[in-house]
Amino acid sequence: MRHLLSVEEAEKDFLLKILESSEIFLKVLEQPSKKLPTLRGKTVLFMFMEPSTRTQASFEMAAKRLSADTVSFSPGRSAMRKGESFLDTLQNLQAMEVDGIVIRHSSPGAAHFVARHTKASVINAGDGAHEHPTQALLDAFTVKRRLGRISGLKILIVGDVLHSRVARSNLFLWKKFGSEVLFSGPPTLLPKEFGSLGARIVDIEDHIGEVDVLMVLRLQRERMEGSFVPSIREYRKFWGITRERLKRIPPETLIMHPGPVNWGVEMDYEVMERENTVILEQVRNSVAVRMAVLYHLLARTEAEG
Ligand code: NCD
Repeated sequence: MRHLLSVEEAEKDFLLKILESSEIFLKVLEQPSKKLPTLRGKTVLFMFMEPSTRTQASFEMAAKRLSADTVSFSPGRSAMRKGESFLDTLQNLQAMEVDGIVIRHSSPGAAHFVARHTKASVINAGDGAHEHPTQALLDAFTVKRRLGRISGLKILIVGDVLHSRVARSNLFLWKKFGSEVLFSGPPTLLPKEFGSLGARIVDIEDHIGEVDVLMVLRLQRERMEGSFVPSIREYRKFWGITRERLKRIPPETLIMHPGPVNWGVEMDYEVMERENTVILEQVRNSVAVRMAVLYHLLARTEAEG
């Protein structure tokens, strides 16, 4: 594979290779030097057209740990402010011979667009509500390290599924590996048609006590035009992982969240105090997983050349 645009289109073998190599890169990160010469001479461009903390920082760290040169493009300070189009911007940046482009954009399909218009390997770091493939990979890697497998599991994804690229990428990934995905959330944020993507839509109360993994999503208020939930209090009461609801979750269930968390809305802070809440472990693992993605896409291009 030359690009990583979506989990839906990715081959299962490629995803498996990423998960296997991530284990090796995690070992590298435990060494004092933390660095490998693998991508020396390669240039990776970061185009983050939407806010990001974890994804951008960990991609940059991953590229640097592999000795790539990195360039960050920030739209707010670029000539796009003078009216230059996205395509012109892209073609000009490509003229500087970049090898990889990591793109986050508010429009679904943005990464595919970039892939069609450049020679570089393109990695989708989130395109609107479509996909966020490296998030699903780092989630799977975290589960694999904790539970020892990624097939035959029951994964419950709770919350704002409608706006969540994380939910979509995870659904496609878990299905490829033979795990069952359950979705739960307010009907306005979880339209019935989502069932046709291959997840079972369930009542949170019936399943919260019996799943291997509970993935909590952020209520994406910035993507909502109008009112999707009657009130935050009501959302918390019915779908939040509150202190009270936590009592019914077995201690061995992994609780995950892609971040950023709205504390007191989709999750109470007490969730952080249990042994099997792995939210920061997801972030720690993300550097190794993104190193693996960069390695498989960019080192391979070199072999071909
Ligand atoms: C997610 C995103 O931006 O898609 N965050 C992330 O990348 N870790 C989820 C979110 O914003 O809720």
